[in-house]
Amino acid sequence: MLSYQHAYHAGNLADVHKHSALAWALDYLVRKDKPLCYIETHAGRGLYDLASSAAQKTGEAAKGVQRDGLLTAFAPAHPYVRAIINTRHEGAALYPGSPVIATSILRPMDTLHLAELHPQEVEHLRAAVGERARVYQQDGYALANRLCPPTPRRGLLMIDPSFETPREYLEVPRFLAKMHRKWPVGVLMLWYPLLAQAAHTQMLAALTSAFPAGLRHEVRFAAAAAGHGLIGSGLFFVNPPYQIEHELARLAEVFAALDSLA
Ligand SMILES: C[S@@+](CC[C@H](N)C(=O)[O-])C[C@H]1O[C@@H](n2cnc3c(N)ncnc32)[C@H](O)[C@@H]1O
Repeated sequence: MLSYQHAYHAGNLADVHKHSALAWALDYLVRKDKPLCYIETHAGRGLYDLASSAAQKTGEAAKGVQRDGLLTAFAPAHPYVRAIINTRHEGAALYPGSPVIATSILRPMDTLHLAELHPQEVEHLRAAVGERARVYQQDGYALANRLCPPTPRRGLLMIDPSFETPREYLEVPRFLAKMHRKWPVGVLMLWYPLLAQAAHTQMLAALTSAFPAGLRHEVRFAAAAAGHGLIGSGLFFVNPPYQIEHELARLAEVFAALDSLA
């Protein structure tokens, strides 16, 4: 179907939640002097122009990463803040998507595999990451299935679907279970939306039953505009990086303080 375009939503509060947790996780993993593999099933275009008509139309970034005081709620050395500042050097209104956050944190010894189906997004993605990552214009679930268990064995699989069909909510738990069987040591990180109609409930029940030790983290926020369905952001980790729960608790505080910001 591919009607979803992340350019309308880049830099929104869900991106702040997902991207700051991802940046922290990758920054934690690179502390060990051993190569790792990063695989992303739904990469998007890598770089987003928050001054574009798409971003301006929804105003989601203005209520998200561009909100006064939001970034200063993070420590200045936080890897998410560093990735944003690096990107702004390329263009003041540019915002890094997850692939660019990953390329900014991972080392030359690490391997990156990025899947994106949309032809236009793939073209932008190739331009954004250059030679640093292997980009595949194919179904991300099939790519991960083919690559896992990857070489090197350490690493993180990021799954950030657009959930365009209700079926995807049912398939994601089966996909995670399969990836965990194939790659028991891999960190699996799933993002899901909290929508007014709570479409994710059944998916979460299946995930928590398949992964009783999985780590779930959710934040809630006001819809960016009247009638917008997105009212929160969820993450589910299998094999979460050590001590990420402390980082997620700090992140919850950032979101809890949002109402006091402009
Ligand atoms: C939520 S966006 C990705 C955002 C990106 N992960 C980020 O945080 O910067 C989802 C992307 O997945 C793409 N997509 C949808 N179904 C896909 C599939 N089965 N395989 C690969 N890409 C897919 C869409 O074109 C869209 O660009």
